[in-house]
Amino acid sequence: MTQQAEKHEHAARHEPRRSPFLYVVVCAAGVATGVSKLITAAQERNWEVGVIATPVAMNGFFDSAAVEAQTGRPIRSAWRTPGEPRPFPPPDAVVVAPATFNTVNKWAAGIADTLALGTLCEVAGLGVPIAVLPCVADALAAHPAYRDSLTRLRGMGVRFGDPHAGEPDPDGGRPEFRWERALDLLGP
Ligand SMILES: Cc1cc2nc3c(=O)[nH]c(=O)nc-3n(C[C@H](O)[C@H](O)[C@H](O)COP(=O)(O)O)c2cc1C
Repeated sequence: MTQQAEKHEHAARHEPRRSPFLYVVVCAAGVATGVSKLITAAQERNWEVGVIATPVAMNGFFDSAAVEAQTGRPIRSAWRTPGEPRPFPPPDAVVVAPATFNTVNKWAAGIADTLALGTLCEVAGLGVPIAVLPCVADALAAHPAYRDSLTRLRGMGVRFGDPHAGEPDPDGGRPEFRWERALDLLGP
């Protein structure tokens, strides 16, 4: 690491912080379009927020410019290069919302091929509280690998919100995603 990068990293780790820092991990599910509601709710509860999105989620699943304006920080999606400073301070808690079938299964299997997954695998081992709001269609949620993934992650202490299928009700309406559930799962 260069001297300058070391200085930045030192500054990022020691920057005076008034609020606890929340990582919001966003996956490529249709409901991701509403993630600004979660950021607003978190900020109202005194969290400072940094967003980590999967590469697929960055491909039009939410308004990245609006999220960057809202958090005041760039969205992280790709790995930093070895000489680059860590752009976010270490997390006090992590929310994964929405969590996809793909990311839940890969996380449980210990796969770390996106920054989002690498971060999730690591923070679970650090004992940081993690709350997950899956958005997974019932047909996919019936897959035995998904059920095993939930059991495995729960066994690691990960907290899950109620299942949400992201599908229309029989009457054509769409059930609300209720983003605040993630913050409730983290506790006071
Ligand atoms: C419009 C659209 C909506 C999607 N919604 C969901 C969803 O609600 N849940 C899910 O698990 N996958 C959904 N997918 C599929 C995921 O985007 C796909 O599995 C992707 O590989 C997930 O990548 P990620 O887990 O790295 O974000 C959707 C795909 C598209 C194109």
